[in-house]
Amino acid sequence: MAKIVVTGKIPEIALEKLKKSHEVISWGEETPISRDEMLERVPGANVIVSLLTEKIDEEVLTSAGNDLKAVCNVAVGYNNIDVAACKSKNVLVTNTPGVLTDATADIAMALILMTTRRLSEGERVIRNQEPWAWGMFYMLGSSIQNQTLGILGMGQIGIATALRAKSFGMKIIYTRRNRLDEKIEKELSAQYVSLDELLQQSDIVSLHCPYSTETHHLISDAQLSKMKKTSYLINTARGPIVNEEALANALINKTIAGAGLDVYENEPKVNEKLLKLDNVVLLPHLGSATVETRTAMATTAANNALEILSGNKPLNPVY
Ligand code: GLV
Repeated sequence: MAKIVVTGKIPEIALEKLKKSHEVISWGEETPISRDEMLERVPGANVIVSLLTEKIDEEVLTSAGNDLKAVCNVAVGYNNIDVAACKSKNVLVTNTPGVLTDATADIAMALILMTTRRLSEGERVIRNQEPWAWGMFYMLGSSIQNQTLGILGMGQIGIATALRAKSFGMKIIYTRRNRLDEKIEKELSAQYVSLDELLQQSDIVSLHCPYSTETHHLISDAQLSKMKKTSYLINTARGPIVNEEALANALINKTIAGAGLDVYENEPKVNEKLLKLDNVVLLPHLGSATVETRTAMATTAANNALEILSGNKPLNPVY
């Protein structure tokens, strides 16, 4: 019987899977576990099942001890885990790709529509009981048909977003470390461009790359100033890919027309300047937040843990 420490509340079905043959110590609250509490629980763990709100670093690994075999993240992004430290201690790391692709692409598409059609702004008028009336020129947004969507990071979620946008009549351009196969490019009617070209040509830029030291503040003053004045920035990836202060200033100075954010640089904090602006839509990191998706994510992490504890290869290794 192995010891599995689950650092956050996860769906019961996944917990039950783990409990069938192992000792499971899990955090039952919906609010994230405190750092101290986590450090107290991990000693002797064979597997840590972590949420993206928990930083799994050298200190946690040392505190867990030499019997730790794996950290199984309940997320596709794993920037909360020090992968190099895990590697040096022979601790496997797994994530949950695939199962949250559609849910996240849906939120990216939702943000595209919310920003260009001013939906949050409109809803605020109704909720605040401000006077309004249908008018020929009242609260006009911009149509997305025939507009160019620039996808930065064309992985699974980027591709799923491109497919949605294509069906809305958008033109797709993208940038990525390696160019896609011609066949997939054709399917998406997507054109490969450089980052600069993407920033200059897009009416909407949507971020879908992982967060790492290489993508830290990938979008900052210089990049924002290359974007069209009429363009929008959408971020459903990770907050620190964007320099939030630079974005807030660009929105205030109308360097770009608007932004739609699901993620923030210092979650759950949000830059105060953004809170006051009408040209930004702010969501509380809901990309994968459906019952079905969260269940699939937790089950995927549990399956990875079980495979590793049975001596098999993990299903979704990140290295
Ligand atoms: C969610 O943000 C994830 O990375 O899974």
